Amino acid sequence: MTEPIKNKAPSRFTMESYQELYRQSIDNNVEFWRQQGQILDWFKPYSEVKDVSFDEDDLHFRWYGDGELNVSYNCIDRHLPEKADKTAIIWEGDDPKKSRHISYGDLHDEVCRFANALKKIGVKKGDRVTLYMPMIPEAAYAMLACTRIGAIHSVVFGGFSADALGDRIINCQSQFVVTADFSRRGGKKIPLKANVDKAFDKPGVKDYLTDVLVVQTDAEAVAMNDHDHWYHELAQEVSDECQPEAMNAEDPLFILYTSGSTGSPKGVVHTTGGYLVYSALTHKEVFGIQKNDVYWCTADIGWVTGHSYVVYGPLANGCTTVMFEGVPSYPDFSRFWQIVDKHRVDIIYTAPTAIRALMKQGDQFLENTSRKSLRVLGSVGEPINVEAWEWYYEQVGDKRCPVIDTWWQTETGGIMISPLAGVTPLKPGKASLPFFGIQPALMDADGQELSGQNEGQLVIKDSWPGQMRTVYGDHKRFYQTYFSAFKGVYTSGDGARRDEDGFYRITGRVDDVINVSGHRMGTAEVESAICEHDHVVEAAVVGYPHDIKGQGIYVYAILNNDDDAGDELEAELKQWVRKEIGPIATPDLIQFTPSLPKTRSGKIMRRILRKIAANEVDSLGDTTTLAEPEVVKQLIENRLNR
Ligand code: WTA
Repeated sequence: MTEPIKNKAPSRFTMESYQELYRQSIDNNVEFWRQQGQILDWFKPYSEVKDVSFDEDDLHFRWYGDGELNVSYNCIDRHLPEKADKTAIIWEGDDPKKSRHISYGDLHDEVCRFANALKKIGVKKGDRVTLYMPMIPEAAYAMLACTRIGAIHSVVFGGFSADALGDRIINCQSQFVVTADFSRRGGKKIPLKANVDKAFDKPGVKDYLTDVLVVQTDAEAVAMNDHDHWYHELAQEVSDECQPEAMNAEDPLFILYTSGSTGSPKGVVHTTGGYLVYSALTHKEVFGIQKNDVYWCTADIGWVTGHSYVVYGPLANGCTTVMFEGVPSYPDFSRFWQIVDKHRVDIIYTAPTAIRALMKQGDQFLENTSRKSLRVLGSVGEPINVEAWEWYYEQVGDKRCPVIDTWWQTETGGIMISPLAGVTPLKPGKASLPFFGIQPALMDADGQELSGQNEGQLVIKDSWPGQMRTVYGDHKRFYQTYFSAFKGVYTSGDGARRDEDGFYRITGRVDDVINVSGHRMGTAEVESAICEHDHVVEAAVVGYPHDIKGQGIYVYAILNNDDDAGDELEAELKQWVRKEIGPIATPDLIQFTPSLPKTRSGKIMRRILRKIAANEVDSLGDTTTLAEPEVVKQLIENRLNR
């Protein structure tokens, strides 16, 4: 076995003090979180800390339940006046000539103005506001403005289609959308506002949506309807002072839709106090944040990583956070490292898919940059393979900076299993050890907890402040999805292996969720989109190993008329899915087939389809329950391998 790599970075912990505090955080959980809650400023101090139940009839998780606070106050006002001139947000445009520094003082005024504009169009405490935004500072202003007045934001990734946007508006009965005229990525201009117009045409949307606030980013005109309001016009009419609303710790903060194994995406609900305590604390300790750090998380705010580690965690800690509008490949594959040099970034936090894509382009794109400012390299969103880990560590960080592989989920609110910068010995490919207060465990299929060195389903015992509170409008589904398989614990849906030192390696999803370029997707969503096409009778979608994306999307489709099969229909179906869901869901491979392997009771045997897609046809496993075994033979013969 190779020796772990030294984790060299400043930290207030040593391995011994981490272990000691970890032990206390478990043995004395309530006392630990009582103290950690002090990372925030509270309008009304909490006396209760933890009130949780995993029982089906009484499922609830409440943290700091009688405390009152405001998220935007914690992210802005409490840093003033000392940090009025400190940069809160460095915005780097898609166009490398464009960047802006927004100080904490400016942020205060911008967020207050935005909050007042929201009030002006009628937004009130408890209302759901859908944000469909590019990566521009106004996206962060809008999020913080919602929190300032107690509105609940639901950020929908700007790459999702009008249809997907419509679904999410309907699901949370959102009366308001905040958007921009255009978004920009890789030198291309994308008409974002036009998608909102299209969403209005979706049946049901008009029952809820009444007003759209539009941020202008471009001189090109866009169509404005009666229900549309220009933000820049309203901003002139409102003041830059807005009192932060005192919110109960358990008031909902945001809804974020994420994919599960079945059905439509779920609205994950996070609440005000516990979420902010957890995102702030994990941000501070996992990365070992220092006073003047420039911290850059490359995630889009449409994902949970953008919520917790672009906006809320860093700003609650008074840190300087970088917000990047563009993509790693534009104008060329040096862009990330140019940004690191330009803004003297200390900590970068990105996804394995980006690392693999850049690694593939070769080291010449690193050579013209220094990257000397870097101290910590973070990774998130999917398992990082050892080769990518080593390239990140050796080539990007010149072996100076620890690679911090952080495992967590939309549902967990913040990082759960990860090395701490400067503390935990590094084992490439392993997310390693739990954060304070977190008790991971491994289960076998029968619900028996596994001990020692072992592999099983990853669950979390007990609750933590950042845990999701419910599925919006469907508490039953919350129970079914996360607490019914194994009693008294949170089931993550991931598998993991624990080594002789208790370090965890996450092995990937055990359900029908796939992870394509770090974007989480339910195979059921892609299936239902494809099946809506006239030529398709039935389809099954699985993930398969993909060099860059981690997983690619492999579709098996049964057509109405076999004669239609061909490149043309394949291209049309790919285009169809892009339109239905968004470009991130575009299938990589589509295999047309006259039938699918099913059990005698008619269930598609996805395990077999996964094996065929992965070209592991020698290990198909038990096929005795197949209704028509010859289907499998045919699928293997016609397997795609492009
Ligand atoms: C996967 C993203 C391995 C995992 C924060 C999880 C990871 C899903 C890692 C959640 C990691 C995330 N190593 N796998 N370090 N981080 N995952 O909700 O399968 O978009 O269940 O949250 O991503 O994706 P989500």
